[in-house]
Amino acid sequence: MSKRYTITAALPYTNGPIHIGHLAGVYVPADIYSRYLRLTGNDVAFICGSDEHGVPITIKAKKEGVTPQDIVDKYHAIIKQSFLDFGISFDNYSRTTAQIHHDTAQEFFKTLYDKNEFVEEVTEQLYDAEANQFLADRFVTGTCPKCGNEEAYGDQCESCGSSLNATDLINPKSAITGNVPSLKETKHWFLPLNKHEDFLREWILKGHKKDWKPNVYGQVKSWIDDGLRPRAVTRDLDWGIPVPVDGGEGKVLYVWFDAPIGYISATKEWAAREGKNWEDYWKDEDTKLVHFIGKDNIVFHCIIFPSMLKAEGSYILPENVPANEFLNLEGQKLSTSKNWAVWLPDYLIDFPNQQDVLRYALTANAPETKDNDFTWKDFQARNNNELVAIFGNFINRVVVLTNKYYDGIIPAPSDYSTIDEETLAAVKAYPAVISSSIERYRFREASQELMNLARLGNKYLADEEPWKTFKTDEARTKTVMFIALQIASALAVLSEPFLPFTSTKLKGILNSNDNGWEDVSTKDILIQAAHQIGKGELLFSKIEDSQIEEQLQKLEASKKANEAEKKVTEPQKDEITFDDFTKLDLRVGTILEAEKMPKTKKLLVLKVDTGIDTRTIVSGIAESFSPEDVIGKRVTVLVNLAPRALRGVESQGMILMTEDKDGNLVFVNPDTSTALNTGTHGVNNGLQIS
Ligand code: MF3
Ligand code: ZN
Repeated sequence: MSKRYTITAALPYTNGPIHIGHLAGVYVPADIYSRYLRLTGNDVAFICGSDEHGVPITIKAKKEGVTPQDIVDKYHAIIKQSFLDFGISFDNYSRTTAQIHHDTAQEFFKTLYDKNEFVEEVTEQLYDAEANQFLADRFVTGTCPKCGNEEAYGDQCESCGSSLNATDLINPKSAITGNVPSLKETKHWFLPLNKHEDFLREWILKGHKKDWKPNVYGQVKSWIDDGLRPRAVTRDLDWGIPVPVDGGEGKVLYVWFDAPIGYISATKEWAAREGKNWEDYWKDEDTKLVHFIGKDNIVFHCIIFPSMLKAEGSYILPENVPANEFLNLEGQKLSTSKNWAVWLPDYLIDFPNQQDVLRYALTANAPETKDNDFTWKDFQARNNNELVAIFGNFINRVVVLTNKYYDGIIPAPSDYSTIDEETLAAVKAYPAVISSSIERYRFREASQELMNLARLGNKYLADEEPWKTFKTDEARTKTVMFIALQIASALAVLSEPFLPFTSTKLKGILNSNDNGWEDVSTKDILIQAAHQIGKGELLFSKIEDSQIEEQLQKLEASKKANEAEKKVTEPQKDEITFDDFTKLDLRVGTILEAEKMPKTKKLLVLKVDTGIDTRTIVSGIAESFSPEDVIGKRVTVLVNLAPRALRGVESQGMILMTEDKDGNLVFVNPDTSTALNTGTHGVNNGLQIS
């Protein structure tokens, strides 16, 4: 039955091009889903656009000495073009600097304001006096109070996914000047998420029953269980959408308030262009709204945006939020700033007309239930061993033999053997199998089923050997080729969501374009005898070792550049007095016990004999040392540091650490001269909180 769908893909930030992490996590699965829904006769609005506000864009603009508008214009164009070239079939790709979006977001804010859905409050916020700037979101970093990650941002910790207020950060530091911020009063509007707790709880429970991914449901449930707090939805910034109410002068909407409304404005823009009614896609209970996002966006799409929609009152809520985990690259976290990525525009140049290869490699290895690793070797293997050796090889044999034996005219079959009957029945089962996987958001499984259909074709040819029977049994050969051509036609249809360029090519070769998804399971014949097919054209070609080497060398170059950058010695910190120094009470201690803090990556909980007592110290060294490495170790302890709680455990002091010349974390060891050694190598940071 045909349904109406609004499918959204997270609006990418316009501070850099798209990379494979974005593609695997969001855009490829969203595109497969949308193409599939269209093919099965649904009414689909597949919506995306550029997310052009927010702090990272202003930081980048400042760094490059241009305006934020320059930055977003540049990357919006690059991103939009690369999506188009890559075959992502958005119905509309808009942008949040568009007038229609500013209007829509302001109107949305006004509605909530008029309905008294905000709490207006003057609070103390972090302020950087030198930069003359309030520090929210990415303008401030500090230690996450939930997990101890020292690089959490003012709105979110990327390590544990928690959403934060800037004032929650421990040891906050301005990202503009590096200064320790002061506090200054300012007025903002807060969305009282606490007020929506009951509604959210009931709603996600409903979602859970509808088969939400366990990772999404689990995260959302635990946030709600932790208790939600009001969240500021305005900011003291000059880049963004002006707050449209009295007292809002000089303030803008928080980027995470305006960006998801971008889905709505992009739908409006599209509907106006297509002569449709946008409200059908956002306000009709029969419409299914599905958000494709990466896992760092879960809180915004499952807590904040639904609360906004609910508070507004006239909108539908998402049916599902199939968030993916992260994709790593060659064993390391993807990073825009470290240039550790495969950039889409580069890929399109280096592998011309091979969009489907990347789509397939990313789908077959999609980070659906856990983080996954993209390697160039795997990419090559997916292409050479699957696309070329299975799919391409099958189609090539069918097309070449049909041309060779019958001048490209499909022969008429005679009686079917049992194997023929079974093979045709097996083909008919595929649409349902693939549909079932796609409808449960299991795209890797779906892509493997598609490949299984190609395998079935190969096996059929290998078993029936038309190249042998051709000399002995004309009727049998014709039947076999006829059936092989049915399989090829099924592949042309069912590959469309996954391999759209290949599907188009294959339909061209078969000279046939009139089958739909359902036809594959219902029609006895997909392509008729006496129909003329075209000459062969290879669907896929082998990727050589040299091409893979070239890509690996690019990455190697990024690694070297990063290391070189890291080696730059940080300047000496501000001078301190001798009196300052004597305030430090340093003791030689021994680590008696050590264990990992549950659910954290970085933290070890240590019991340390300091000579004066035995105390607990939480130390952020777990990525460099295991508990066994450190038990029994003699260390230098700063014992008179004010205690602080990390993950609910009070840390009573600090173990002194520094970095050696290779950037490894090392103990300032009372027994050897480690600290002096590193000092003479001129290594940066000096002492470091651990
Ligand atoms: N720009 C955000 C990111 O890349 C995603 C925004 S999604 C939207 O993480 F909902 F806000 F649109
Ligand atoms: Zn955290």
